[in-house]
Amino acid sequence: MTTTEPTIDPAPDAPAVAATILGIESSCDETAAAVVVGAQSVLSSVVSSQVDLHARYGGVVPEIASRAHVELLTPVVAQAVVEAGIENDQIEAVAATTGPGLIGSLLVGVSAAKALALVWDVPFVSVNHLEAHLYASFLEEPDLEMPLVVLLVSGGHTMLVLMTGHGRYEVLGSTLDDAAGEAFDKVARYLGLGYPGGPAIDALAMEGDPEAIRFPRALQNDGLNFSFSGLKTAVVNHVRKNPDASTADVAASFQAAVVDVLVAKARTAAQDVGAKGLCLAGGVAANSQLRETLLDVCVSDGMRGFLPSRSMCTDNAAMVAAAGWWRLQSDGPAGLDTGANPSVGLP
Ligand code: KG4
Ligand code: ZN
Repeated sequence: MTTTEPTIDPAPDAPAVAATILGIESSCDETAAAVVVGAQSVLSSVVSSQVDLHARYGGVVPEIASRAHVELLTPVVAQAVVEAGIENDQIEAVAATTGPGLIGSLLVGVSAAKALALVWDVPFVSVNHLEAHLYASFLEEPDLEMPLVVLLVSGGHTMLVLMTGHGRYEVLGSTLDDAAGEAFDKVARYLGLGYPGGPAIDALAMEGDPEAIRFPRALQNDGLNFSFSGLKTAVVNHVRKNPDASTADVAASFQAAVVDVLVAKARTAAQDVGAKGLCLAGGVAANSQLRETLLDVCVSDGMRGFLPSRSMCTDNAAMVAAAGWWRLQSDGPAGLDTGANPSVGLP
């Protein structure tokens, strides 16, 4: 479903040189704003998480998320501008995530960004959330060489992306069912570890034995697509049959199965395309075991491996501003009639 709002005259053309961009992110349950100069220098990055609001429901409730964005967005933007040490009139463009994500949540950020662009008379830039995750790495390491393979693993997506240039992508493989983060969240919920599940499993797995239970590694040696729904079922079946099993062992063994598959396929993809580097993106990229294993593989294959910092892996607006800078250079400003698209793929 694409939501389009009434047409308003587009903002003026993009500045050709380094621009100070206000990024806005509201695609799921983080309300975030950041000020970034020239896709490289992060002057501020404010993330207000709604985790506490959703935790009691065991997952994100879309209606609660969009209402919380309405309340939080203005103070979060104000804080980002103050922390950047600039005045509003120094902002040269406003970039916002227009999709994919929750439609109600997206619309809050998109509407606010377009209103600010109109009032400040600067360009509005439409940013794809998946592309923003890819640009998180470039913010911290601008010299990453291409071809580059990015393993993008989040709550809603699991894909291997080949980057051959800025804004030039090929999806080499993706999940056929659940996303990796979704599997972490569902298994954590089943194990009574709360929401969000990824960090909880990550922490508990450190106390468990990853070889205690041999969970299935679906499609491990079969192409570049992923499947995680069978693994989730295998965990449920195991716990039902072994109610006294150590939860830490289950968590560690589940995590090992996910990481084995993710790393094996990322490695194959990088070898197949002769990648110069391999990097991680998305919330699951904050996972300790995944980070360690991926780096080990890069070292043994003599390939450049890059791990964005954990705060850059999970949803934030600095990555939105960075991707926005590149989009502004390549496509120019977006019209103020641009809507939100909850199910758009990579451009
Ligand atoms: O990228 P993100 O912040 O939001 C989406 O765009 O989906 O990713 C959120 C996902 C959640 O499923 C969360 O459980 C997972 O990332 N996650 C983790 C870790 N931290 C966050 N999964 C595994 N280990 C972690 N340390
Ligand atoms: Zn995300």
